[in-house]
Amino acid sequence: MASGTVVVVGGTRGLGRELAQHYADAGRDVVITGRDESAAAACAREIGGSTRALALDLANPHELADRLAGVEDVQHLVLAAIDRDSNSVRAYDIAAALRLVTLKLVGYTEVIHVLAPHLQADSSILIFGGLARDRPYPGSTTVTTVNGGVTGLVRTLVIELAPTRVNALHPAIVGDSPQWRDMPKERFDALVARTPTGKLVTMAEVVDASRFLLENAAINGINLPVDGGWLCM
Ligand SMILES: NC(=O)c1ccc[n+]([C@@H]2O[C@H](COP(=O)([O-])OP(=O)(O)OC[C@H]3O[C@@H](n4cnc5c(N)ncnc54)[C@H](OP(=O)(O)O)[C@@H]3O)[C@@H](O)[C@H]2O)c1
Repeated sequence: MASGTVVVVGGTRGLGRELAQHYADAGRDVVITGRDESAAAACAREIGGSTRALALDLANPHELADRLAGVEDVQHLVLAAIDRDSNSVRAYDIAAALRLVTLKLVGYTEVIHVLAPHLQADSSILIFGGLARDRPYPGSTTVTTVNGGVTGLVRTLVIELAPTRVNALHPAIVGDSPQWRDMPKERFDALVARTPTGKLVTMAEVVDASRFLLENAAINGINLPVDGGWLCM
């Protein structure tokens, strides 16, 4: 039986929450984070099992060490948080760009820095990127940039944190995730038409792929698209 805590940064909603629910149901000690303390605590109660909540804002990386004090014996660390952003080079919003770059690259890295002393030799880290890394869309300038940064981050962390394993998952649009499940039908149908499997990726499939990256002891340094074959189109 595996032991140690599963930490899910961005575990109050969406894919992070789904993964936290899986590990809580499996009897693991789980820590989830969100920005608001009472909302995160309420979410931890809903998830149940041995789940506790912490409040932190990745856009304030200098605060993260204090926020994460008391998190120890980390078996799996999942970085899934995102604050959605639309930005383009012609209408460049510097404040928005700084916020997302800080959150996703500096904030994620600082969490790993703070928790590194609490990782075991067989621990693993999973970082969420996204398919905008390879398939930009209008307004994805910062999103595409940070998801490309995730790819580089994985490679350097594999070297610096060895033998801890580090992988990333790059989902296409997850059709039943809270972010996308209410999208207009025309958009949904257009996305399905561009996906070779003939359906959008599901949250359950992302959880399954996440478990593979977190738990398979041979998997290290992988940036895995989870996209139903979208990249072949
Ligand atoms: N859903 C998709 O289809 C999809 C597609 C491609 C990539 N992804 C990637 O997968 C990951 C999860 O996406 P999702 O759609 O499941 O996300 P989501 O439902 O929007 O949830 C975002 C999570 O991030 C937390 N968060 C937001 N801003 C934060 C901040 N400044 N500091 C700390 N935490 C913050 C939120 O917590 P609170 O609101 O409680 O503070 C929440 O737990 C993201 O990295 C995203 O880029 C998702």
